[in-house]
Amino acid sequence: MDRLHNKVAIITGASAGIGRATALLFAQEGASLVVGARRQGELDSLVAEIEAAGGRAVALAGDVRSEEYQRALVETAVRHFGTLDIAFNNAGTLGEGGPSSEVSEAGFSDTLAINLTASFLGAKHQIAEMARHGGGSVIFTSTFVGYSFSFPGVAAYAASKSGLIGLTQALAAEYGDRNIRVNAILPGAVDTDMYREMNDTADKQAFITGLHALKRVARPEEVARTVLYLASDDASFVTGTASLIDGGASITRS
Ligand SMILES: NC(=O)c1ccc[n+]([C@@H]2O[C@H](COP(=O)([O-])OP(=O)(O)OC[C@H]3O[C@@H](n4cnc5c(N)ncnc54)[C@H](OP(=O)(O)O)[C@@H]3O)[C@@H](O)[C@H]2O)c1
Repeated sequence: MDRLHNKVAIITGASAGIGRATALLFAQEGASLVVGARRQGELDSLVAEIEAAGGRAVALAGDVRSEEYQRALVETAVRHFGTLDIAFNNAGTLGEGGPSSEVSEAGFSDTLAINLTASFLGAKHQIAEMARHGGGSVIFTSTFVGYSFSFPGVAAYAASKSGLIGLTQALAAEYGDRNIRVNAILPGAVDTDMYREMNDTADKQAFITGLHALKRVARPEEVARTVLYLASDDASFVTGTASLIDGGASITRS
């Protein structure tokens, strides 16, 4: 229960879903956390839950599109806990969907800003701090959509999330000699607010479930365990990877 003993982590998108589940797991495993998202109330509840269980966490609410916010997340980690070892850049949005011939430039650009540019800005400041003290682990939340599978109406989402895989490889190559590992996770469908927003009928949920070899979608806690692996020293020789956690969606054609 202490795979992250003495480690300090930033988690974005921690107010719900995958980020929240990962924050609870990291805290159980001994990490001190800075948790980020826009909704202050949800972050405060998460911090209270972590502290009630004996863990350590600080909330900093903001919008990941802001470079000042990204810098402040790192400064908060250093001020409260002395350093930064792990960053899970997980905040994301479905963005503007629908027929691509009708997607607005503003909608496409904003999807990239939240899912891709914000992750770069986060990594930029996280890596600078990690490099100062001997290394760390950066993890991005991509998706199987636009990588091993796609469907109509998700051009902005797929483009932004597959961009994270190139970013992962570039940063892993650039900072490996500083002992900074960079990896992306590629979840299949996960039962979160985002999944329910996109799949708002029983028919849509049955379709998505059927895409997975395991014939179900993931629970956020199942994704969190892969993030824990990548964050921990168990993955000390793992960098530059795109890790599918997709219940076999990528190898299923029925
Ligand atoms: N659910 C799936 O099936 C699935 C599959 C593959 C990948 N993913 C990815 O997993 C990640 C987490 O999503 P989830 O499924 O856990 O959905 P979720 O429950 O809707 O969580 C999304 C999180 O991102 C935060 N967020 C969104 N825009 C933000 C912004 N501009 N600034 C700061 N925080 C922002 C939200 O917090 P606030 O609203 O409080 O700001 C929330 O904490 C996303 O990157 C998503 O693309 C999800």
